[in-house]
Amino acid sequence: MEDLFKKIISHCKEYGFIFPSSEIYDGLSAVYDYGQIGTLLKNNLRDYWWRSMTQINENIVGIDSAIFMHPKIWKASGHVDAFHDPMIDNKDSKKRYRADELIEDYLSKINEKIEKEILKAQKKFGNSFNIDLFLQTNLKVKEYKEKYDSIKERLKQALNNNDLKELKNIIEEEKICCPVSGTCNWTDVRQFNLMFSTQLGPTSDEADLIYLRPETAQGIFVNFLNVYKTGRMKIPFGIAQVGKAFRNEIVARQFIFRMREFEQMEMQFFVKPGEEKKWFKYWKEQRMLWHKTFGLDDKFYRYHDHEKLAHYANAATDIEFLFPFGYKELEGIHSRTDFDLSSHQNYSGKKMSYFDPDTQESYIPYVIETSIGLDRLFLAIICGTYKEEKLEDGSIREILSLPDFIAPIQVAVFPLVKRDGMPEKALEIFEMLQPYFYTFYDEKDSIGRRYRRMDAIGTPYCITIDQETLTHNTVTIRNRDTMIQDRVAIDNIINYLQNKLCISNKLKIIQQNARMALQSL
Ligand code: GAP
Repeated sequence: MEDLFKKIISHCKEYGFIFPSSEIYDGLSAVYDYGQIGTLLKNNLRDYWWRSMTQINENIVGIDSAIFMHPKIWKASGHVDAFHDPMIDNKDSKKRYRADELIEDYLSKINEKIEKEILKAQKKFGNSFNIDLFLQTNLKVKEYKEKYDSIKERLKQALNNNDLKELKNIIEEEKICCPVSGTCNWTDVRQFNLMFSTQLGPTSDEADLIYLRPETAQGIFVNFLNVYKTGRMKIPFGIAQVGKAFRNEIVARQFIFRMREFEQMEMQFFVKPGEEKKWFKYWKEQRMLWHKTFGLDDKFYRYHDHEKLAHYANAATDIEFLFPFGYKELEGIHSRTDFDLSSHQNYSGKKMSYFDPDTQESYIPYVIETSIGLDRLFLAIICGTYKEEKLEDGSIREILSLPDFIAPIQVAVFPLVKRDGMPEKALEIFEMLQPYFYTFYDEKDSIGRRYRRMDAIGTPYCITIDQETLTHNTVTIRNRDTMIQDRVAIDNIINYLQNKLCISNKLKIIQQNARMALQSL
């Protein structure tokens, strides 16, 4: 799986999806640029999310708030006081780690040892192997398991109690070493706030300190009154936003999975207090159904319900995706109670309540949040669709089986050969298609190599202009996945492609899912 992930990263670079940021200056850690093809794919994913929220749901509207916001917002949201991770430095390698992740990695190693013992015993005992009995009776495994459970419990308690000393104790007692220097020469554990700060205006006064937003959600909360009043919104209603967020992650690994500058797509759904449980269930299901519209295998997705809830939440779940490095969070769905609006009311002194015209009641709404990273969605889609396929002639083709409606280049046009008037005809068809689709023209190299290049960036359809085009006004349209070619009249190409590439078919599914679920609420 590590090899597969490396291949995906180099594929993204080679075909213009993603480049390391500032590459000619040796890059900037955990910051990436999207290339000419990646930008198109990212735009399509963003657009699909945006339309699924704001076009399909008549009670969800979108906003675009500023990245710079009043610093009190981050005090009210809890980010100034509580948005931190425990960090530790190795004095020999000078490398910095998250203390909790060092311990988590250590726990995974103990788990691997247990799994190895199980495999060994499975081989030894064959069909008569009883795993439950083995786990209960094998002394070595019992010892590992007890150690695992005790460290896990200590870690949980330490994190809950903000006990940094205890984190260091675990690291020292278990002799957890730095993977680079191999030594256990550690500093104390300190809290590290993940927000980037900067100065607003020309003076560098303490009072001018502001933060780059670590989430887009707060821009929605502080605009709640504006949108509710100017949009004449009635509860339940939602406000969606897409935009950049910034976090000074201590350890940023796994390519665009954890970045320091990334894009979030968040929607806050405001509901009547007491109704939050049913709306949480609704959004939990709808968001999973949305992910399934990309057509990837069900095995890629699973829920992870949170047992330990943030103090302001009364339910939370993650939709996890099976990345090459395991199941990891792709999207979070949280029932955030009235924490944010109440807190902004306290800090700003502005009443954040909603007046219900039907019941004549006034209340601070409860909130269900859906929050997904656009870059993480991008990575999930690339990982879920990248394949190497062995062809009949023994050669290998790299292919991205992207769903048609999000493909960066939707159709390519090729003259079969560079003579006999074929390039001229191909260019004519290319220009005919340009206003309708992202179209690419290519006449270099053999037709086989041109198909391969398009397979690698996920172009679902390739049109070839051949001798028959010149005599019968027809072209072949090759399907990327099946490699089957249809012969289509030039006059019918636009219709043929529009039916297949149209995003509306997917939006119809989103709409039907929502209608059905709303009926049974
Ligand atoms: N407003 C809630 C919130 O921000 P979160 O779980 O911290 O919740 C939501 O982030 C989503 O944002 C995650 O599920 C993930 O997709 C994305 N995300 C968070 N941190 C990220 C990072 N450093 N790099 C890329 N995506 C990130």
